[in-house]
Formats: sequence, structure tokens, C-alpha cells
Amino acid sequence: METKLLTEKEEDLLTAAGLLKKGEVVGIPTETVYGLAADAYNESAVAKIFAAKGRPQDNPLIVHIAAPEALDTVAENIPEIARKLAEKFWPGPLTMVLPKKKNLPMATSGGLDTVGVRMPSHSTARKIIELSGTPLAAPSANLSGSPSPTTASHVMEDMNGRIPAVVDGGACTVGVESTVISFEGEAVRILRPGFITPEDLGTIADSVITDKGVLEKMDSNQKVRSPGMKYKHYSPMAHVIMVEGDFDSFSEYVAKNYHDGVYAMVFNSDKGEFGYPCIAYGDTEEEHARMLFQKLREIDKIGADTVYVRSPEKKGVGLAVYNRLIRAAGFEVVKL
Ligand code: TXA
Ligand code: MG
Repeated sequence: METKLLTEKEEDLLTAAGLLKKGEVVGIPTETVYGLAADAYNESAVAKIFAAKGRPQDNPLIVHIAAPEALDTVAENIPEIARKLAEKFWPGPLTMVLPKKKNLPMATSGGLDTVGVRMPSHSTARKIIELSGTPLAAPSANLSGSPSPTTASHVMEDMNGRIPAVVDGGACTVGVESTVISFEGEAVRILRPGFITPEDLGTIADSVITDKGVLEKMDSNQKVRSPGMKYKHYSPMAHVIMVEGDFDSFSEYVAKNYHDGVYAMVFNSDKGEFGYPCIAYGDTEEEHARMLFQKLREIDKIGADTVYVRSPEKKGVGLAVYNRLIRAAGFEVVKL
């Protein structure tokens, strides 16, 4: 199959919507990462998403809507707190897990009776949903296990020949996937951290719990509240090791462990005589988020063997970056 690269022009978006209406899968831009979209109500279309990604069937898809009112068409028994959060953070990178409407196929929700719903802020994403006339199920548009795509060319790298089209909506401004939350009474539980931080959620919710799986590897006997936590993620070919500590101790550690093929992923402001090759991924938490997946893909292109990553702080958007990096590192973390 030839994969067409479409633009954001009206006629191209109509082409994308036409494919989606016919039950095809299309790569679409969002503010977080690119998504692999299909009609959330069409089981055979949804099956094509799982096939294109090589995704386990029990890992549920997020359903994307173009207006807050559409929430009631996909979910039910919506708590008041969810409505308040939607009012504050939608459109934007917040996914809420809620009881699903019966007519939403089990294939979309990975066999669960809940559904993750979000209204993206990327105007092209919303336009495509509107033109398709249906909510769109969309996981990140990478091959299962690879770093999420933040440009149309990343989607092409993974999906060329596997799907009919990708819409190029430019580089994603957020760079990490949406914050995923569930509800326990009036309390909010963070299942996956993102650009909407625990602090942000705390401005609306009285109680915000960060799930254990956000910062730690889950044992097989622990309750996994989000299937995505079980799977290996964001893994470049290189061996990634996360290193927590200040720059001086980090630098000393990398120099001590240096061999051919070793790279360090550092902050832009980290200066000094490195004595080993470096890749910088910004300085602020937001820059780390925006650059993270692009840099993980670059690591493979340069053929790195081992990459020591300087850890971001585990707060604010840094929590999301840390969460993705420990997964890329297979939970191999060195604390200096
Ligand atoms: O920003 C994003 O969320 C992107 C863009 C395309 O919108 N999408 C995305 O989808 O990251 P995906 O499928 O790669 O990640 C969805 C995560 C998975 O970890 C999944 O297990 C979890 O959300 N999830 C989805 N529905 C859920 C549910 N009903 N209960 C618990 N976890 C759920
Ligand atoms: Mg994903």
C-alpha cells in the first residue's frame, strides 16, 4: 500500500475524512504526538489500528472528540469533577477514563467497560474529527514499543506502506502523550503523567493521587489500572540508562563508563569538557517534553550503543518526561 502524505489544506482534510468514513486508518497530528486514527465505532477499522501498530488487543485506545458535548455520546455516569476538568483543560492534553457507553465497541476499549476520552487542542485534529462525523479512536502513531512520533516524517518512518495516508500538521508542540486520569469518587488518579500536571489538576480537584505505576515498575502481583503500564515502551535500539544526579557527578559517571558507542543525553546548559559525544534535549521541563521522542529516534539513527540520560526533575511536566524515560530505560536507573 502506498502511504500518501496529505497537507492541512481543506481538500486534503476531506480526503483524510473520506478515508476515515470508509473505515480506513489515517495518521493525524495532535498537540501531543501524532495519532493513528480510525472511526471509534467501526470494529474492523479499529482492528486495522491494532494490526498497523502491532499492538496487544487488550491495550485500550483513546477516543478523540471535537466538542465537549460529544463526551456524553461515548461515556456515561460522568462525575461532576470530570465536567469541571473538561471545562478547564479541554481542548487540550487531558484524557479522562470514564464508564463507556454500551454501543462503543469492546475492541476500542480493549475489552474494558471504561473508555479514555480527550478533546485535542490541535485545530487540524478537531477539523478531521468534524469532517469524519464520528469520534476517532487514536493511539500514538508509532509501531508498538517505538518512541511516539512528533512529526509526520516520524509517522512515515514507522507506518509507510501500512496505512493509506498521514496528514502533516507540523511538529507537535507538547511532545509527550496526554495526561491520563481516572476517578475515585471526587479524587483524581493519574495513570499516565503528561503536560497537564498534578499541580494543574489540583487547582480543580481536592485530591490528586499519582498511581504507583507512574514512577515504578509494576510487579506481576500488583493491580495495573492502565494496561499501557504493563508494556515495554519508547525503546530505541540503544541501551538506555537513566542517571539521577547533578551534572558534575553525571559527567564523572559517564566518563568512567565510557567506551566506543556511548552517548550522553544532557541539558543544553550542561557545559564542560565532555570527553564523550552528547545529545542535548533542552533545559526546561517543557523543552525536554517537546524534544524527548525526537532525540530518542536520533539516538538510533546515529547508531548509539549505550545512552546515559541525565534525569529531569520529577515534578511538573518533568514527571511525564521521567515516566517515559524510565520506560525507555527498561527501569534501569542509576542514583548518584
Ligand atoms: O496524547 C495522547 O494521548 C495520544 C494522542 C494521539 O492523542 N494518544 C496516545 O494513545 O498516547 P496511546 O494508545 O498510545 O496511549 C493510551 C494510554 C495507554 O497507556 C492505555 O493503556 C491508556 O491510555 N488507556 C486508554 N484507555 C484506557 C482505559 N479505559 N483505562 C485505563 N487506561 C486506558
Ligand atoms: Mg502509545
